Amino acid sequence: MEILRTPEAMRALAGRLRAKGLRGGFVPTMGALHEGHLSLMRRCRAENDVAAWSLFVNPAQFGPHEDIAAYPRDQEADMAKAAGAGMDLCFAPEAAAMYPAGYRTYVEVEELSGPLCGASRPGHFRGVATVVGKLFHVVQPHVAYFGQKDYQQSLIIRRMVRDMDFGIEIVVLPTVREADGLALSSRNAYLSAGERAAAAVLPAALRWVEAEFARGARRAADLAEGMRRMIAAESAAAIDYVEIRDAETLAPTERIARLAVAALAVKIGRARLIDNTLLTP
Ligand code: PAJ
Repeated sequence: MEILRTPEAMRALAGRLRAKGLRGGFVPTMGALHEGHLSLMRRCRAENDVAAWSLFVNPAQFGPHEDIAAYPRDQEADMAKAAGAGMDLCFAPEAAAMYPAGYRTYVEVEELSGPLCGASRPGHFRGVATVVGKLFHVVQPHVAYFGQKDYQQSLIIRRMVRDMDFGIEIVVLPTVREADGLALSSRNAYLSAGERAAAAVLPAALRWVEAEFARGARRAADLAEGMRRMIAAESAAAIDYVEIRDAETLAPTERIARLAVAALAVKIGRARLIDNTLLTP
């Protein structure tokens, strides 16, 4: 697996690969790779001539009170895992190469960035859209792969690609889960054994709302309230939000008549965990 450390080197390689008519797939990540990331990589590998990924812990998407230094990092292990998934190349720049002194340009996706995680993490999605836009320009893929676990992020990327004419296909793949349903996340590493056990309430609440919905329940407020009650009964859990929204616009919905998303963010110990499920009428 070839590792590119500068945007210039990556861009030059991407140009050569494109000139050969090769189809390139791309998986952006912040590292600390787990089976969720690897599922995206395997799909990327299977569907493209060249499989690229990026490893970059993006300072622009961390808030002033979020500890970017504490974000789990293990480049050597990540490189081995990605190579094992068959990836051909890795773009792993330094922060100074992506945001040199004097950097002033940011991408803002309006409305979709406002609610849910946008409300509790101001500026977060501006940082995500900015870095993904930059990565797309440098890596120049034909298709890029994202996880449904970060549902709002995937919507924002899709919208940015459409609005800014990136001409890149966006593929969103299902959330990979532990045996008890907890979504794999690098943040799960912050959980103590007791907190890890308590975190099972999150997938349980999602399975509950799916079952209620399947039985015909359609009032979003009641469904969200039921999930909140379940989660609140777990003393280790502090709810940031539990919401049912229109799956395309993230606007509040009263009666679920179109595709909706049940989304949650809950703090357990020092880990802020997010998850979601789609409700299809
Ligand atoms: P990161 O959290 O490293 O996630 C990289 C990709 O892996 C994202 O598309 C995310 O949705 C996906 N992913 C994470 N956990 C998953 C799981 N359990 N199942 C399936 N996919 C999963 O998301 C980011 O990085 C950053 O915001 C990034 C897009 C790289 C921009 O900096």
